[in-house]
Amino acid sequence: MTSTVIDGIGVLYTGDPEREEIEDAALVVEDGLVAWTGPAAEAPQADRRVAAEGRGVIPGFVDSHAHLVFAGDRTAEFQARMSGQAYTGGGIRTTVAATRQAGDAELATRAAALVKEMRAQGTTTVEIKSGYGLTVEDERRCLEIATALTDETTFLGAHVVPSGMDADDYVRLVAGEMLQACAPYAKWVDVFCERGAFDGDQTREILRAGIAAGLQARVHAGQLGEGPGVRIACELGAASADHCTHLTPADVDALASSGTVATLLPGAEFSTRSPYPDARRLIDAGVTVALATDCNPGSSYTSSMPFCVALAVREMGMTPLEAIRAATYGGARALRRTDVGWLRPGTRADLVVLDAPSYVHLAYRPGVPLVHQVFQAGLLLEEDPQNPPLVVGL
Ligand code: NIG
Ligand code: FE
Repeated sequence: MTSTVIDGIGVLYTGDPEREEIEDAALVVEDGLVAWTGPAAEAPQADRRVAAEGRGVIPGFVDSHAHLVFAGDRTAEFQARMSGQAYTGGGIRTTVAATRQAGDAELATRAAALVKEMRAQGTTTVEIKSGYGLTVEDERRCLEIATALTDETTFLGAHVVPSGMDADDYVRLVAGEMLQACAPYAKWVDVFCERGAFDGDQTREILRAGIAAGLQARVHAGQLGEGPGVRIACELGAASADHCTHLTPADVDALASSGTVATLLPGAEFSTRSPYPDARRLIDAGVTVALATDCNPGSSYTSSMPFCVALAVREMGMTPLEAIRAATYGGARALRRTDVGWLRPGTRADLVVLDAPSYVHLAYRPGVPLVHQVFQAGLLLEEDPQNPPLVVGL
């Protein structure tokens, strides 16, 4: 059993509500887990030492919402939006057509490249959804590809009704044969509950079927307009309602009095040139908030949690402390994980050493690559020109 102390930490953001920030700190890693955190002056002896030289340390980001298994490109759609066209979600079908055409190897290579991009920016836990296959076999294979990259896989057969299919027939397929084929590869079930995608009754039917098949619920809700999605998420005990851009007062009350996390995805508002969600309103009401990238080729083609943190601070009324909390601890709550998203004895040693003295610089120095080193379960992930990244011991 080898122990390592990382000392000389400028500001350690632990994410532990009991002691969230420690200045001039140290952290001890043993067997891939955090063994100790505290002031550097009180650090216990360890077998090895890493000097942070005044850099800040944060838990690895928990990106709890991403759509990484797809093929094709929607640059033209983005350009049209930046000339004033609205985002409707209709472009999902363009990606579905490209994804169905692509072989497994291409889909797996592209998804792995996005995960690698995420890791280089400090993400150590990522959720990956299906949703660009929309046939039984295409959804199943997209999820199988996702399982090679993460434990947090989500069945999103209910992304849109595919071209040429009747909506009621499709809902029956999703809640029946498609769910049965996909459930072995998924932890979560999700529905895009929105005008133009699935309504309240359809959302309930699919989520209930998913829960009966042993999956846990999460919902795309309130992205483009108010709707029943948030209330359904709270009613059914979903871990998270995602987007939450358009909320009624009743939605905010429902979130505040349930255990459902509100996951905000500011990359989507950035890339669709839409008004940002009001994080202040949610936090002031006592709602647990998470931040995630929503990485996908249509509404939010960013893999960067630091970018989302900066947007949340500048555009959504969050303080830097609230934003880093939402991007780590909040994301872990949204995935019902207690082993990641915070650094305290017993949690996984997933952490980021920043090229800055504290997490505040993520918003203060937007767009600057501030990730110095990423440790996953105590191992340093080093960028290697050969894919995948080389994992070496401390
Ligand atoms: O979360 N809104 C639904 N799904 C994605 C967008 C998918 C797409 O446009 O391809 C989202 O924003
Ligand atoms: Fe999404």
